[in-house]
Amino acid sequence: MDLTNAQMRDIETLIHPYTNLDAFRQTGPVVMERGEGIHVWDTNGKQYIEGLSGLWCTSLGYNEQELVDAAMEQFRTLPFTHTFAGKSHERAIELAEMLKEIAPHDASKVLFCGSGSEANDQQIKLVWYYNNALGRTAKKKIISRKRAYHGVTVATASLTGLPANQMDFDLPIDRIHHVNCPFAYREAEPGETDDQFTDRLAIELDEYIQREGPDTVAAFIAEPIQGAGGVLLPAEGYFPKIQKVLNKYDVYLIADEVICGFGRTGEMFGSQTFDMKPDTISVAKALSSAYLPIGAITVGEDMYQAMLDESRKIGVFGHGFTYTAHPVCAAVAIKTLEIYKKRNIVGHVQSVAPVFEGRFAKLADHPLVGDARAKGLIGAVEIVADKSTKRAFDASLKVGAACQAFAESEGLITRALGGDIVALCPPLIIKEDEINEVFDRLERALDATEHWVTKEGLRSA
Ligand SMILES: Cc1ncc(COP(=O)(O)O)c(C=O)c1O
Repeated sequence: MDLTNAQMRDIETLIHPYTNLDAFRQTGPVVMERGEGIHVWDTNGKQYIEGLSGLWCTSLGYNEQELVDAAMEQFRTLPFTHTFAGKSHERAIELAEMLKEIAPHDASKVLFCGSGSEANDQQIKLVWYYNNALGRTAKKKIISRKRAYHGVTVATASLTGLPANQMDFDLPIDRIHHVNCPFAYREAEPGETDDQFTDRLAIELDEYIQREGPDTVAAFIAEPIQGAGGVLLPAEGYFPKIQKVLNKYDVYLIADEVICGFGRTGEMFGSQTFDMKPDTISVAKALSSAYLPIGAITVGEDMYQAMLDESRKIGVFGHGFTYTAHPVCAAVAIKTLEIYKKRNIVGHVQSVAPVFEGRFAKLADHPLVGDARAKGLIGAVEIVADKSTKRAFDASLKVGAACQAFAESEGLITRALGGDIVALCPPLIIKEDEINEVFDRLERALDATEHWVTKEGLRSA
């Protein structure tokens, strides 16, 4: 394959995240050039539907002029100022007020940052800080779940429960543990009902905390829907049962709303869709429709009081990034939240979700699809070699990646996750006819994958 000049320059200069760096040297990148609505175009002029909203984030699509104008206005007025050491600015204050108002728990304050990883990193630091303030110096362990995705900093890659994020990075760090996740298709025993399965997970968690010692377990972190781990919808009734266990042992619940926040699941937050009652949330991505990097965590009054105590003791709250509450990012986030409200984006997701979920349900009949799952405007198909036994293809065959490539040649960007799971998470502004077009293309990609698998005899490989 002939590589273009841009592709060759890329290969010689850039390190690409989540890429097989060696194989990439042969293929080179797809270089993107522009976007509009739910579409993006590459430098060859090929148009794609951005079926994953970039990285689960461009909720308002690719040419939202109001966001551009909000950024430009702030650039002209005050392109940078900060919130360290007693300084502030109106955009930070306004955005914090807006987040407090919509948060799915009693939020007292907001602490900004630049990304989802930083948000969850801050969560860990605050949990440790809090327990030190309360004199509970042993209560520091944080429980995450297998297949979780919470980021890639040293601490948040430790929370993440995916092997590639930890292997040979010498992770996870101490005090971070992983329990089973509520993924019924793969984790429930044969014949086990959702109720039995979630009872079992709650009992396992209870026993785990007892074994570790309740006085050593500080927090539990969970995405309402586990995104990068495979778009895993929690089995019915899971969170209320887990919550009961956490309450019993005074364990703080962190909801990682980095993907699910701001309408994705058909409510403003995934916590509301799945009956989670978090003590705090982490947000990023759709907070600014990804037009600029910004994240945040909410802080309850208890936590805030503990932070005041520590500040009195130490003399300062010793944390913060240069770009904490960056004014241009904050201005774009304010405008994003205004648009969600003004255009009733949550109502729009509710109105189109039946089409999205219905087309996913139909995919379950496809010969390659073992499981098709969706909620709101996020979903995935799990490709299997044998539907009746749920047998997966050998990972080295990269069947999911092949399906992703066939989808791309059909003009649809999807994301093949580990375990041959192909995910969709389109911009929230997507219309009904566009959803149908997404699925027509995905069906053709699945048919092409089936044809290739059969021709190459991969089911028996
Ligand atoms: C649920 C969740 N949490 C945290 C993160 C990390 O966010 P970032 O990539 O902005 O650091 C992600 C990224 O995909 C995510 O999906």
